Amino acid sequence: MLYGRTTLSKFIIEEQRKLAGGAELIALVNDIQTACKYIASAVARGALTGAAGPTGIVNVQGEDQKRLDLIANDIMLRSCEWGGYLAGMASEELEAPWPIPAQYPRGRYLLVFDPLDGSSNLDVNVTVGTIFSVLRAPDGVTDPRPEDFLQPGTEQVCAGYALYGPAAMIVLTLGTGVHGFTLEPEIGAYILTHPNLAIAADTHEFAVNASNQRFWEPPVKRYVEECVAGKTGPRAKDFNMRWIASMVAEVHRILMRGGLFMYPKDTKDPQRPGRLRLLYEANPMAMLIEQAGGAASTGRGRILEVTPTALHQRVPVILGSKSEVARLERYHAEYDRGDVAFSSPLFNERSLFGAALSN
Ligand code: F6P
Repeated sequence: MLYGRTTLSKFIIEEQRKLAGGAELIALVNDIQTACKYIASAVARGALTGAAGPTGIVNVQGEDQKRLDLIANDIMLRSCEWGGYLAGMASEELEAPWPIPAQYPRGRYLLVFDPLDGSSNLDVNVTVGTIFSVLRAPDGVTDPRPEDFLQPGTEQVCAGYALYGPAAMIVLTLGTGVHGFTLEPEIGAYILTHPNLAIAADTHEFAVNASNQRFWEPPVKRYVEECVAGKTGPRAKDFNMRWIASMVAEVHRILMRGGLFMYPKDTKDPQRPGRLRLLYEANPMAMLIEQAGGAASTGRGRILEVTPTALHQRVPVILGSKSEVARLERYHAEYDRGDVAFSSPLFNERSLFGAALSN
């Protein structure tokens, strides 16, 4: 019996009442949830309509665009531009910010999003999602320039993602915990199913694209090597590894049952300090993870405190269970200090590690 359960719309209104927040953010989240319903429907029909296929275009990030990337981008823009709550939007799929069309009023917020994260998985029907972040427009700004979006993640007023998987979901935070809503397709409403999500401090599961290991920095090699060594290694416990190659699905797993996810700094492409984008991937996910009691770091500091310098800036990402993120930060600090030499049998090279390998 769903009647009487809390819908996302009701939740946002009650939450904003508690926070004495304005109606504009409520209305904006409503527009975002409408967009996510359209995208969920387009993704579900992708193979039937041919929209899961490639466009033959390479986007501003140098990635192959799928038709659904463009459809999802368009749905987000059209669903959120008209309401009068936004001064501007920025998307993974667009090089420059999207100006609000002249016929619509301007509002006080900025919306930044990745319309379809994990879209390289569309042809194999794996869970993908939309990641979004809401910032305040600087005072008096009605036509934001790229630099107006360059705010640290600590300034986010709302962050979340929609998941298009076996069930469609929205998971979001307004800075007061993390809450998950599942789309009930028959009535077309997101219902609160996962209130107050919390991430356990410890875990025995980690996720990383291990094919990049030769490009990683020594502290990351050390961490993974110790995990892989399992019970017989310095951690004295067995670890499990996962890699879906869809950040929304990985973060969702961590919010559900803990774990560590990382796309760390590597030397694969010297122009890129990481793979994931700060403003519309790392920052919203970092806010969610911290709000659920986890931690999110570049390895050398809190992601949310990174000062952005470009709209599509990339950043190393290490997030999830607090004690694992702290361990990785410690390994980076020891490496940066140039502590005692450590020789890695697995990677057959010398790297600089100091502290004892166990705890
Ligand atoms: O940034 C897009 C993304 O698809 C993420 O969702 C995912 O974590 C990562 O890229 C996968 O990268 P790779 O293909 O290198 O495993």
